[in-house]
Amino acid sequence: MNHDPKASPIPDETSSIWFDTVHLPSFQLLKENLVTEVTIVGAGITGITSAYLLAKAGLKVALIDAGQLCSGTTGHTTAKITAQHSLIYDELIGHVGEEKARLYYKANQEAVDWIANMVRKHDIHCDFQEQPAIVYAEMEKEAGKIEKELEAYNKLGIPCRVANSLDLPLQVKKALIMPHQAQFHPLMYLHFLISRLAKMDVPIYEQTMAVDIEESGSCIVRTEEGYRITSRDVLICSHFPFYDKGFYFARMYPERSYLMAVETENPIPEGMYISAGEPKRSIRSLSAGKPVVLVGGENHKTGRGENTSLHFQKLAHFAGDVLGKMKIINHWSAQDYTTLDKIPYIGRLSSAKKHIYVATGFRKWGMTSGTLAARLLSDQILERDNPYSSVFSPSRFAADPMVRRFVIENSKVAAHLIKGKIERARTSVDDLENDQGIIISLNGKRAGAYKDEKGKIVVVDTTCTHMGCEVNWNQGERTWDCPCHGSRYKPTGEVIDGPARKPLNLLFAESKDTESKDTEREG
Ligand code: FES
Repeated sequence: MNHDPKASPIPDETSSIWFDTVHLPSFQLLKENLVTEVTIVGAGITGITSAYLLAKAGLKVALIDAGQLCSGTTGHTTAKITAQHSLIYDELIGHVGEEKARLYYKANQEAVDWIANMVRKHDIHCDFQEQPAIVYAEMEKEAGKIEKELEAYNKLGIPCRVANSLDLPLQVKKALIMPHQAQFHPLMYLHFLISRLAKMDVPIYEQTMAVDIEESGSCIVRTEEGYRITSRDVLICSHFPFYDKGFYFARMYPERSYLMAVETENPIPEGMYISAGEPKRSIRSLSAGKPVVLVGGENHKTGRGENTSLHFQKLAHFAGDVLGKMKIINHWSAQDYTTLDKIPYIGRLSSAKKHIYVATGFRKWGMTSGTLAARLLSDQILERDNPYSSVFSPSRFAADPMVRRFVIENSKVAAHLIKGKIERARTSVDDLENDQGIIISLNGKRAGAYKDEKGKIVVVDTTCTHMGCEVNWNQGERTWDCPCHGSRYKPTGEVIDGPARKPLNLLFAESKDTESKDTEREG
């Protein structure tokens, strides 16, 4: 059953189905200095849940976000709530031992149960559905990995069952099923928590970018607009930590993945599916009037310069093969960070920073890890014991696999740095079509040119402002992406994501009346 991509064209614009189906309230930008007890930077699931827990415990909390609420990874997730993180437990036992692997499972399963209880207790309308999580193998060697994962489940006491086929048109050799997991609409769920924050008078600010933290007795978060938020504790829940005093850029690597929501004629069987092998494939249903299915995958390291539109085309083919006749209604992509040992960093930013906390490196499992992180961080701030602190501590460092991965990832960064500098552009502005970006040579130096829908050209210096690697064009998302640590920029150079804080240097911009002018920008 081959899908004819012409039967369902891929829309031009990317947009997440979650934002298209819920309207979140909006908030003002911060325009004054504030004094509070806890400042939370980043309003995705981690920041919002942390604010809810801390405010409920009686603390004064302020929540800020550099953009719109949930506009980062939280608004672009598959929204699976699960402790089954593809294949992980056999690997974890090998790397951190049985006891820590068990704690990792328990922490995640408790997060799943916590969300389920919240939904039940408050009758939150968020399309919450209990579903089994299923990792499946299509090749013999992957089936072997499922066998090992099953052994790990049994050692750790994780409830599961095994199947030798699935009721989907996939060549499944073996599947491992974890019952009592769940899926939901993340923004409907967070809409409820945001309304509770409003009831508890928690101030929330959007378009408020934190740029620095000063520590002088209290912590002072400085915003881009020049305001100060003074508090005892700061939680950094900004996806990549904006205040990197722990070499996080060298201890995590960024990956992009792709998702599409498709209308089908028939619903898929119960379950949230993920492939054990590559290319990664994820399938889950979406509770809606007509059967809608989310299909995801095509993970790759950020900024490697390939045509990212091809990833959507491959997903569309896969969706057509599995679902038959279908129509693509949304497609979008997301960025995730993976830590050296695949366990998120949750806790004090570093052993020297007693009042600055971080939560990052959730790989693809942010709904569960974000909730787990909010519970763990709020316990730490409230000085309550939490049995999972040491497993997720950002200060942990084990010889294997962290050292090996550290060396591999950082030697790749060095290779990208050198490759970008010696690469010669083979294209020029004349090759540009509307709404396209390319690498050109400007006065003998590598530069990035983008022509917008109306034919206006902008040229940026492709040197990443974080540590000097060369960014590449991402045609799927219309962004400049850095292969080293995942910073992403708009076509005109402004920072979207990642460790970089300053925009790309703007070298040239065609003005509105089509006269050209050179523009230099500072910082
Ligand atoms: Fe680090 Fe670009 S993100 S050099």
